[in-house]
Amino acid sequence: MKEQASRELFAEAAEMMRNSYAPYSGFHVGAALLAEDGTVYTGCNVENASYGASNCAERTAFFKAVSEGCRVFRAIAIAGGPGGKTGDFCPPCGICRQVMREFCDPETFEIILGNDRGEIRIFRLKELLPESFGPDQLEGGK
Ligand code: THU
Repeated sequence: MKEQASRELFAEAAEMMRNSYAPYSGFHVGAALLAEDGTVYTGCNVENASYGASNCAERTAFFKAVSEGCRVFRAIAIAGGPGGKTGDFCPPCGICRQVMREFCDPETFEIILGNDRGEIRIFRLKELLPESFGPDQLEGGK
């Protein structure tokens, strides 16, 4: 993706931190998932008093998209930090990387990270999840 488009997607992710429900960790995360057809599905983290029931921003975005019938994606931008301050990059957790692997091509899918100094880093999924296990390993997958 072009740099300007990546910055715009990151801005949408940062905007989504507003909706983050994170009373336990205080760590607010927003995600913006760009589908092949240009639609952007946003998500935030949603925590729970039973901590294990919490959901990350990235998975919220993916599950919104898939539940709407969308399964082909180009990129996801992620913004997160304590109190919604994005001093550092917020890389996706391992479970979210695996969910990306289910629906995205590791060679082409882009993961866009940013911070409040205007720095952007872009990774391909294969860089963040090398030697991955995916649907092609299982009969019946996708
Ligand atoms: N979190 C995300 O939403 N995405 C990530 O990739 C990292 C972690 C959330 C989960 C939890 O609500 C909080 O950040 C602290 O772990």
